[in-house]
Amino acid sequence: MNNEIKKGLIGVISDETKISEVMPDINSLTYRGYTVQELCEKCNFEEVAYLILNDDLPNKNQLSEFKKNERNNREISDNLKSIIKNYPKKAHPMDTTRTSISHMGLEDPDASNNSKEANMRKSLRLLAKVSTAVAANFRVRKGQDIIEPNNDLDFCENFFHMCFGKVPSKEVVKAFDASMTLYAEHSFNASTFTSRVITSSLSDMHGAVTGAVASLKGPLHGGANEAVAHMLNEVGSSDKAEEFILNKIKNKELIMGFGHRVYRNGDSRVPTMTEYFHKTAKYYKNSELPKISKILEDTMLREKNIKPNLDFPAGPTYLLMGFDIDFFTPIFIVSRITGWCAHIMEQFESNKLIRPLSKYTGTSHRKISK
Ligand SMILES: CC(C)(COP(=O)(O)OP(=O)(O)OC[C@H]1O[C@@H](n2cnc3c(N)ncnc32)[C@H](O)[C@@H]1OP(=O)(O)O)[C@@H](O)C(=O)NCCC(=O)NCCS
Repeated sequence: MNNEIKKGLIGVISDETKISEVMPDINSLTYRGYTVQELCEKCNFEEVAYLILNDDLPNKNQLSEFKKNERNNREISDNLKSIIKNYPKKAHPMDTTRTSISHMGLEDPDASNNSKEANMRKSLRLLAKVSTAVAANFRVRKGQDIIEPNNDLDFCENFFHMCFGKVPSKEVVKAFDASMTLYAEHSFNASTFTSRVITSSLSDMHGAVTGAVASLKGPLHGGANEAVAHMLNEVGSSDKAEEFILNKIKNKELIMGFGHRVYRNGDSRVPTMTEYFHKTAKYYKNSELPKISKILEDTMLREKNIKPNLDFPAGPTYLLMGFDIDFFTPIFIVSRITGWCAHIMEQFESNKLIRPLSKYTGTSHRKISK
């Protein structure tokens, strides 16, 4: 047996997947063989969600059936609405969303049915309902009434409608839609791996997704998009950006939104998201945020040779759109639910209990002295 410890499982291939791949030769993330860049350009998030949950892009009929199902499942129960209204006001939306998803499991008619058909039904219900629960929480935290979903609207338009009571311009919706596509899936990252570990004991989908949310919350993972927005607010203006980052580097602090376990030469999703960030900034007539970002990016590259990850352009884009910072990672959930559900189904289809070993380094064998 090989006793080498692979801390953080760096470089360990623990299973196969057919869902996504980071292709080194073209430095791109692909979902079931399609690059995310092409998906952002030619498809909307509903088509991408279908692709991730199934094996291929939908034809016209499949898409219309999928959209109909998603729309018909958007409503959340009165019980869940009242729970959301009663969450402690100071609770972080990642924690409340985790609880909302766990609660959805209690109400789901297929909760403990792990058949492929039931898991597909649950995936669709989660996709449809999580966005409603996040938006309801967004409103309640501001002391506003919950806005019911509008089934005449596409997924992303409806999310804006439920959060703000209106749908912004097409450009802004497209930028949000692209962020949903880029956030949807990323192979065996920490939260997805968590969902597969939970599934591997033959637990259930809602439990696996609830665990994945807890993992995503951390600032080394999904929580980085919130941290980036806080950092941009702290920098304040472009004339302070270089000094800010140099100080952080001098103090050996981690700079959020930079670095990646898989991409050592730049996150392939960044150029596309940066393009949408710049378009959004132009739309809102904000030239300062892109300026600050550029200085931070250039300084990090010059001083540390570390490039930004997706959270770096996504954070300021959500800031410009008017979302509260502590909802940025829940928004990530609204999209990543697709990747998690696809991985949970894949794990069920070819399951092996995930149970690694550890090397014991504690006190050697001893006796109780009494
Ligand atoms: C994503 C992340 C956890 C990957 O970590 P990892 O694969 O373990 O990478 P390492 O910690 O081995 O990084 C290699 C070196 O770069 C440094 N580094 C990596 N990311 C850094 C960052 N964001 N800021 C400053 N230094 C960084 C590390 O400190 C390390 O330096 P050292 O060799 O002198 O100790 C890490 O880059 C990070 O913490 N980034 C900030 C959080 C973030 O944006 N997360 C979202 C990921 S999508």
